[in-house]
Amino acid sequence: MAQRIAVIGTGYVGLVTGACLADVGNEVLCIDVDPVKIEKLRLGHVPIYEPGLDIVLARAIREERISFSMDLVEAVKTCNILMFCLPTPPGKDGQADLAMVMSAAERVADILVEYAINEPKIVVNKSTVPVGTAARVDAIFKHRAPNHHVDVVSNPEFLREGFAVQDFMNPERIIVGTRSSHAITVMKSIYSAFIGRGSQFVVFDEKSSEIAKYAANAFLAMKISFMNDLSEYCEIVGADIENVRVGIGSDPRIGSRFLYAGIGYGGSCFPKDVKAIIHAANEVGAPLEIIEATKSVNDHQVRRFVTRISDRFDGDIQGKRFAVWGLAFKPNTDDVREAPSFVIISALLAKGAHITAFDPEAAETSRTVLRDTITYADSAYAALDGAHALIIATEWNEFKEPDFPKMASLLTEPIIFDGRNIYELDAMEDRGFEYHSVGRRTILTS
Ligand SMILES: NC(=O)c1ccc[n+]([C@@H]2O[C@H](COP(=O)([O-])OP(=O)(O)OC[C@H]3O[C@@H](n4cnc5c(N)ncnc54)[C@H](O)[C@@H]3O)[C@@H](O)[C@H]2O)c1
Repeated sequence: MAQRIAVIGTGYVGLVTGACLADVGNEVLCIDVDPVKIEKLRLGHVPIYEPGLDIVLARAIREERISFSMDLVEAVKTCNILMFCLPTPPGKDGQADLAMVMSAAERVADILVEYAINEPKIVVNKSTVPVGTAARVDAIFKHRAPNHHVDVVSNPEFLREGFAVQDFMNPERIIVGTRSSHAITVMKSIYSAFIGRGSQFVVFDEKSSEIAKYAANAFLAMKISFMNDLSEYCEIVGADIENVRVGIGSDPRIGSRFLYAGIGYGGSCFPKDVKAIIHAANEVGAPLEIIEATKSVNDHQVRRFVTRISDRFDGDIQGKRFAVWGLAFKPNTDDVREAPSFVIISALLAKGAHITAFDPEAAETSRTVLRDTITYADSAYAALDGAHALIIATEWNEFKEPDFPKMASLLTEPIIFDGRNIYELDAMEDRGFEYHSVGRRTILTS
């Protein structure tokens, strides 16, 4: 049955959630505190780059099933389901900063009381939050709105940026953490349009649901760090990490995904979630040693890459220009939060280098962080003009089959530092490039 749902926080998760829920017939009100974002959305502009989102959103807007507002009172008055898709950034010592989640819960509770809104509400938390958050949110309602019926549900989101619409529409699992049978029934009905063909709808206690989300991200980050750890070893002993990847990834017990060595994981989730679960576990005296190692390997991997670049120029990169292909933390997104490219760029800038970068989608988001410390090229080739070397930081498809002779003619020297291993070694040898990649032999021109 179609529901009237408010999405509180209209970012990567909230906008995709809102658009997909509207697409299957619900009436959705998306709330955000950012007036620019709300205005853009009201004009039909999609404020983020996410493949396929524009189509789903345009349909929902045309059918008048989605609207955008800054008015939380309207949301609480008119919607029985309030989905929190709010940021939980890293706070002090890496712990998840829950200020936005807690203050939104307090505000909703106060609105219920102030406007004497007596219909039962379900508050669904889709933000990634530490264990115990559902209980804390529940306590806020019990304390501030004791005469109002509010069920608090943990419903972690597993979508991947770049595939967010596809993932939301075809989830592998929906996890619902609650003990309220009413909430379970409503959540099942909301997700019924997306469940099927192998996907699971599972109901847990709130705490297990909250930990499952962190465990999923930490495990995937661990797979990446495992390969990155091995990559340095492979470089030293002359093995090829790509062969090792194929060798182990064909075993279904291991699985072939997330086994790519490179310059490490980044993005808005893995780094902050790894830090948050480490902090939360330390707080209760149960250190998670494998996850701690995952983080330190990741930090080391990107620093190691910078050192390799610097060492190639005998530590003297003052005044040298580097082209960077890819700024987004991964392809098919404009998200640059905790992007490894930024770590490399900052380190090179600090040593006096100049950077000209190209990213097919993330120039605008990069500009808000890097401002004019670097030059933004209009095309991949324009970035190469007069550069001493190319650094590949994101494996966008358009970098995979470039015009190598043109690249060689634009670079002052044909040198590539490939942080994503996108080219075959033998082919690079034939093409006459000096080619540094991760966990593989270095190709030198003589
Ligand atoms: N991005 C992902 O791939 C992803 C995937 C799964 C889970 N998550 C989790 O989902 C949560 C949201 O992540 P995101 O990437 O969508 O964040 P985001 O920063 O893209 O979006 C959050 C939005 O909330 C808005 N906001 C902040 N305070 C608000 C308030 N009081 N009321 C209304 N709106 C408010 C912000 O303006 C922003 O538009 C985080 O906990 C994240 O860890 C993210």
